[in-house]
Amino acid sequence: MRVLIVGGGGREHAIAVKIAENPQVEKIYAAPGNGGMAQFCQCVPLKATDVEGITAWAKENAIDFVVVAPDDPLCLGMVDALREVGIPAFGPDKAAAIIEGSKVFSKNLMKKYGIPTAAYETFDRYEDAVNYLQTAQMPIVVKADGLALGKGVIICQTREEALKAVDDMMNHAQFGASGSHVVIEEFLTGPEVSVLAFTDGKCVKPMVSSMDHKRALDNDEGLNTGGMGTIAPNPCYTPDMAQRCMEEIFLPTIRAMAQEGRTFRGCLYFGLMLTPRGPKVIEYNCRFGDPETQVVLPLLRSDLMTIMQATVNGTLAETDVVFAQESACCVVLASGGYPVKYLSGYPISGLKEAAEEAQVFHAGTKCQGDDIVTAGGRVLGVTATAETLPAAIEKAYAAARKITFTDMHLRSDIGQRALKEAKQ
Ligand code: AMP
Ligand code: GLY
Repeated sequence: MRVLIVGGGGREHAIAVKIAENPQVEKIYAAPGNGGMAQFCQCVPLKATDVEGITAWAKENAIDFVVVAPDDPLCLGMVDALREVGIPAFGPDKAAAIIEGSKVFSKNLMKKYGIPTAAYETFDRYEDAVNYLQTAQMPIVVKADGLALGKGVIICQTREEALKAVDDMMNHAQFGASGSHVVIEEFLTGPEVSVLAFTDGKCVKPMVSSMDHKRALDNDEGLNTGGMGTIAPNPCYTPDMAQRCMEEIFLPTIRAMAQEGRTFRGCLYFGLMLTPRGPKVIEYNCRFGDPETQVVLPLLRSDLMTIMQATVNGTLAETDVVFAQESACCVVLASGGYPVKYLSGYPISGLKEAAEEAQVFHAGTKCQGDDIVTAGGRVLGVTATAETLPAAIEKAYAAARKITFTDMHLRSDIGQRALKEAKQ
């Protein structure tokens, strides 16, 4: 089998490693891939968002199966385009990817089907949003409707901040067109949990839970990023809570999407908050999370390729999805200045030494002669697994400390909040 993976981050590297375990997979291609994937995949210089180019290339090169990993090609309909030329692909079609592509859609879906989420209102007129804010309780959360690379969410402590956020989004297009509609919602509190789940549209099989660390600096300070590190499982997510989420959130969501004529197949990401009034959905993503995937897939004991095919063929109910009873921690090594301004092209050393005790997933890297150099904001994800979470954290940091590049930045507290919250 010839498999193409669309994307080029740590998530895609982690997916490629698991797919390579299947003996029927002869060759893996990545578009565009990265310096780490290049060591065992053939990288194809096409942009992940190039729906036409990638579809044509896959057809010409007799690709048997495509994994579309990032949100933008999914929302652009890459899975539909591949299906039209007869190539099966992992991921939702365009109609289903809207669950991430539009916050207005996902909030309305949850309201219609009684899926627990923060109370909210949606606005497409600035004046209406301002009126609403005059009497709303603070803090409050203002969100741009469309994909805004995780940056379109502003937590506002005061009315002034909220008014400014709405003005920036609706009048000054701070998040581009995605801000012409906004969602204003209740501020929730409680531990956050990410649950990725495989689904074929009928059956849903959750993966081991995880927790992201979105802020750039220790103690959850600094700007929001794509994610600075993850742990799995999330110690706040008990078996009772998992059962409750299955009944109140996961199954109702899958059924709601089918009912709406938008059957979801692929990986659905549930961003949850365990509030004092029960688990609530903060966001859906139509794909594997990154860096969540970098802790979840190393714990998967079943065959990823078989599971992905089952989500396409509708046979997930008969397919094993089993995880190791261990913990994992991923520490992201970023370029200094990320997520704002940073330089690239610095040689990376210590990769081999780190790989002796951990898995090193590449994100923003590329090959330059014999060197691997930095080529993005998030450069590497260093993942270790161990019997306990504290042991996994220690091992991941020990490996991460072997790697160096100019201006390298990492958080030193990945996993600490979860350990604290789980004790409470
Ligand atoms: P999102 O881009 O939707 O994942 O939101 C980014 C982060 O904002 C989330 O991970 C939460 O930490 C926070 N957040 C989003 N919505 C809420 C809410 N209603 N209440 C409290 N925090 C929120
Ligand atoms: N780590 C959060 C995301 O992938 O959206």
